[in-house]
Amino acid sequence: MKYIENELKDKTILITGGAGFIGSNLAFYFQENHPEAKVVVLDSFRSTELLSNGNLKSFGHFKNLIGFSGEVISGDINDKDLLLALETNYKFDYIFHEAAISDTTVLEQDLMIRTNVNAYKDLLELAIKHGANMIYASSAATYGNAPSPQKVGCEEPQNVYGFSKLCMDNLSREYMKRSNIGIVGLRYFNVYGPREYFKNSTASMILQFAHQILLGKNPRLFENSDKILRDFIYIEDIIQANIKAMNPKESGIFNVGTAKARSFQDIVDILQYELETSLTCEYIPNPFIGSYQFHTEADIASTREVLGYKPRFEMEDGIKAYVHEIKRLFRDEVKK
Ligand SMILES: NC(=O)c1ccc[n+]([C@@H]2O[C@H](COP(=O)([O-])OP(=O)(O)OC[C@H]3O[C@@H](n4cnc5c(N)ncnc54)[C@H](O)[C@@H]3O)[C@@H](O)[C@H]2O)c1
Repeated sequence: MKYIENELKDKTILITGGAGFIGSNLAFYFQENHPEAKVVVLDSFRSTELLSNGNLKSFGHFKNLIGFSGEVISGDINDKDLLLALETNYKFDYIFHEAAISDTTVLEQDLMIRTNVNAYKDLLELAIKHGANMIYASSAATYGNAPSPQKVGCEEPQNVYGFSKLCMDNLSREYMKRSNIGIVGLRYFNVYGPREYFKNSTASMILQFAHQILLGKNPRLFENSDKILRDFIYIEDIIQANIKAMNPKESGIFNVGTAKARSFQDIVDILQYELETSLTCEYIPNPFIGSYQFHTEADIASTREVLGYKPRFEMEDGIKAYVHEIKRLFRDEVKK
């Protein structure tokens, strides 16, 4: 679906993290709906490097970009020479900044702050030099255990990832005061949908439960999963918010969710309906009690008002739209 009618002729768009889940979906949105725009994807792509939690340092994967015909650059946003080359060799009109250490369980605080916060500042400077509007990924992790519905201004991050995103928001507010470019921070809640598979164990629980079910395994849930609630949002609504943030009425930081909290039990029930299974759920004690979010729900009043954003996908709709791709992934990736 096309979200803006504006022509993007002669416009150049940079998507950092463009080989990742959300960035690659943005790249295809532009290719399909605005073929007149020039799109440049920058991503560090994956190597074999692991962090201390055993997960990959970066999840970018070429398969997310198969079919994309724009320019692709492999590079690290922490590399000042690369940023200088981008400044000199291009003239960007919009920067969608999705590159980050996106894994919320990463413990390397130095790497997290350098990548998520310090490199973002360099990209803001680049945006100002080019007169480009900046649309960047913040996160619901800034809220930690703040009471629901979460509102901008009530942050209590519980990990260095959430802290890094809050630092990005604080930095953005400074730049909003002293620059003329549009700057929009989008606090995504729990995103799911096509092209998340290569996030491995950090992909959404929707995909992970679906593949457990397709393997014929009983879904394993934490006890009281009907009371563990999250605002799960389908990728198409995330794309909608990004596109509507391109030329905002005003700069700001906005929640991007559905404004409805759904339970982990709901996920499994909807998946079993869509996949036509009736496996017995197994319940295990929740080892994270005390450090776990039990209820996230986005207050999206200002997102609606300022950006004109309107979520289109309830969880039933999102899973229905996704199930074909879930099965394809199971066949082509999981079973191989
Ligand atoms: N998916 C979610 O539920 C969610 C929720 C809240 C916020 N976010 C944020 O949205 C953005 C996109 O997330 P995603 O789910 O697509 O994750 P992702 O990991 O699939 O995408 C991030 C991309 O950034 C790249 N990257 C990492 N370090 C880099 C570096 N130093 N230089 C260049 N590229 C680098 C990775 O290779 C990856 O392709 C991230 O900023 C993430 O923190 C995601």
